[in-house]
Amino acid sequence: ARLWTLLALLGAAGSAPLECPLPDGPDSADEATCGLYSACVWEQGGCRLADRVGYQLLEPPHVIHTGYELLLGRRDSEITMFGDDVERLTVTAVEYDDNRMALTYRDTDAARYEVPVELDVPPLPTPPPSDPQYAITLTATEAGQTFGVQVTHRQRPVITSRPELIYEDQFIEATFMLGASDLYGFGENNHDSFRHDLEAGVTWPIFANGHMPGDEIENSYGVHPFFLGIEDDSGSSFGVLILNSNAMEYRLFLLDGVPALTYRTTGGILDLYLFFGDSPLEVLQQYHRTIGLPVMPPYWGLGFQLCRWGYKSVQGIRDVRQRMKAAQIPQDVQWADIDYMDGSRDFTIDPVNFKDLPDFISELHEEGIRFVPIYDPTIAADFGTYGPADRGVEQDVFAGWLNSSLVPENQCEGCKDYIVAKERTSAPGLFPNFFANRTLQWWIDEIRRFIAVAGGPDGFWIDVNEPAAINTNAEGGLQCPHTTLDYPPYPTRFVRCAFNPSGTVADHTICMASVHEADLDGAATSYYHYDVHSLYGWSESRATRAAVRATMAGRRSLIVSRSTYVGAGRWATHWTGDNTARWSDMKRSVVGILEFSMFGFPHVGADICGFGGDTSEHLCLRWMQLGAFYPFSRNHNAIENIDQDPAVWPSVAAAARDALGLRYRLLPYLYTLFWRASEMGETVTRPLAFQFASDPTLRGVDTQFLWGDAVMVAPILDEASMTSVNVTFPAGQWWDLRSGALAYDADHSGGVLYQVALDEMIPVFGRGGAAVPTQRNATTTAASRANPFSLAVFGAQATGMLFWDDGETTDTFKDGSFYHCLFHFSDNTLDIQVTHNDTQWMPDPTLSEISFYGVPSEPSSVSADGAPLPADSVVYEPATGMLTVHTQLGMEADHRVVLN
Ligand code: NOJ
Repeated sequence: ARLWTLLALLGAAGSAPLECPLPDGPDSADEATCGLYSACVWEQGGCRLADRVGYQLLEPPHVIHTGYELLLGRRDSEITMFGDDVERLTVTAVEYDDNRMALTYRDTDAARYEVPVELDVPPLPTPPPSDPQYAITLTATEAGQTFGVQVTHRQRPVITSRPELIYEDQFIEATFMLGASDLYGFGENNHDSFRHDLEAGVTWPIFANGHMPGDEIENSYGVHPFFLGIEDDSGSSFGVLILNSNAMEYRLFLLDGVPALTYRTTGGILDLYLFFGDSPLEVLQQYHRTIGLPVMPPYWGLGFQLCRWGYKSVQGIRDVRQRMKAAQIPQDVQWADIDYMDGSRDFTIDPVNFKDLPDFISELHEEGIRFVPIYDPTIAADFGTYGPADRGVEQDVFAGWLNSSLVPENQCEGCKDYIVAKERTSAPGLFPNFFANRTLQWWIDEIRRFIAVAGGPDGFWIDVNEPAAINTNAEGGLQCPHTTLDYPPYPTRFVRCAFNPSGTVADHTICMASVHEADLDGAATSYYHYDVHSLYGWSESRATRAAVRATMAGRRSLIVSRSTYVGAGRWATHWTGDNTARWSDMKRSVVGILEFSMFGFPHVGADICGFGGDTSEHLCLRWMQLGAFYPFSRNHNAIENIDQDPAVWPSVAAAARDALGLRYRLLPYLYTLFWRASEMGETVTRPLAFQFASDPTLRGVDTQFLWGDAVMVAPILDEASMTSVNVTFPAGQWWDLRSGALAYDADHSGGVLYQVALDEMIPVFGRGGAAVPTQRNATTTAASRANPFSLAVFGAQATGMLFWDDGETTDTFKDGSFYHCLFHFSDNTLDIQVTHNDTQWMPDPTLSEISFYGVPSEPSSVSADGAPLPADSVVYEPATGMLTVHTQLGMEADHRVVLN
């Protein structure tokens, strides 16, 4: 039996009136404008929501086996915000398991659009969880009472609804009081800090958008309505996913001093998934396993990658490769931007300057380097001369219009009733509808044809898939029809962004009144672009993953997508798009990487040295050092800018050699983290706040990050202090990987100022307690992978593990074709315990070097498996306390190394 309590939730805290959602924003509020909306009242010089806004219980709640079900009706059907209110709502609270529940508000009487992203939750009915961390309480228990809901996490209220719920045809607004003031997430936005500033209380739009991010409040490429709150000093946390894909906005702010969220969306349903854990990392694991575990990148995807927009020819790329090699800078992947195409058209090769691309791809392959070209979704309507367009029309793969009366009169010849917009190609662009199976087949076929001609690629860079279109609703561009889809009553803050010149929802994309026929998940249906706009990149990622499966015979490949949505991490990884060559963008990139790691995209990076604008030697130097620790490490820039590959400046080349050298040494550790992410939903890069969640002083640190729990990177991000960095150390012991010296040893966190000359590496630290597998570095992962392993053991007690496989084929873990071992060091004894070893695909790994950090005095001898090692294979450095042991241990068997 469940306890129904009537709580005085709406008492003192958080009872201040809420701002009315005026379409032109709060600044537009005046008494006359306010008076236009019956749901609003002009009060104390502001436009507020009337206190009769909301829903009440129509009948007592039903307890259903998975939670509760409630029927709600409007409190006052005479008042409305934009009209078309949903009269009756069915609210279901579903308890999936001890850490996960959902709260869903649906129209009782009509079906509405719901996001077609499948979540990995138990099918209903599910048995009630045995020991839930959370409890749901309803504020209304009897018919006629105002409805509210409160969810507690271990007795602490974490999410409490305000009664003023608005649920209309094209507008939903809900406000929740939150039981956490350290709040993170929601995106994709150009956030300057990782933790939200509740005092500032900014309203951020979210809607897939392809404009170059600037410094104003902006939404960008992807959509991730997920946030996380750390509740208290213990680190106890909750996460919330609001599964909705319409244009939306959120505001995290203080309401009467209490943290609050106002969430607004322009369609779909209100669908909340809640995740609970004793730490932020536990919450993220719950989230990631629910939205789909991230794809395992190939090992080469962890190597350094080089790109630019504006390579003039294949020879131009060869020249850059040559100088990279001459400077001995590691490189695993060479990328090509639209330059390689004929007239920027997908699946073509420029017949003059890039005609020998296929030869070049084989040259790269001979060197052990991979090739990743770009693909835009837009298909040029060059009928008769361009196969992908002809075959696309034949197979009916393009997005269409809502109805033929909307098709513009001057629509291009042969474009039928498809939506056509300007993108990069000279001919008008058609937009593949990746929600249809026939489009998937066409996309696979076009990719297969390209591979047959080019002999590659190894990966896919899927760009501008917001989808971007150049001048929609601007002069000379596609004009979207005046339907309520393109001109919704509440268009969200996006239309007021400085970068949105047309001030419309379809700015820089196709019209919301276009349509995608869909049959991917069985039953045929069709979607308004209005609803699925933000899923376009998601759908292209899915199609491209299908193409990889169909054409690449069990290879993982690498798909890097600009636009992403919840769950697309199963198929694709992400780079943070068009940044600018500025110090502030470099700093912001750390926030982007930490956020995408929350969103389930561990393989993420920003354009190193900056995309737009000319970089400078010093900026590029510091950025190469930081970028060497992005999980996805790629230098890329825009067409009009100077060359910025790391070989351009000797100083940057030296910095890149050092930083990437360390990266390549650490790759076995990084790879193991990726395996843990893809199998267990862990994160790869982490903020200090999440790893050391019981230290509240670390909650705002976003200038440093960790790889897993063992390696901490402290980049230099400030032009003003280009040769120093103030490092925050969490409590414990930390060793400087540059010198091997103990850098910090305290039972509390603290700061240490480091001077770092321009020819020095940024500080990177190993955490006492960690055992980190490494390998001697080389200039490609193909070569470094062939080297024997080493192990770094930090402190008197340490643990760690290694996951290893061929780095290339899919499902190695599932199929059991991998190697895994555990490292455990205590009482001067290191145990290496093999837990799985199916290494038919490769020579048995050997361990040739073990570095013990923090050994107080030189041991009298070191033995391996009971036999003393020759004295010359053991080196002790008294100054740092580092003991290096040279061995030849076959890793197929367990071993014990003892420092006597
Ligand atoms: C936009 C992408 O974000 C950028 O990385 C690329 O260089 C250009 N498109 C040109 O393809």
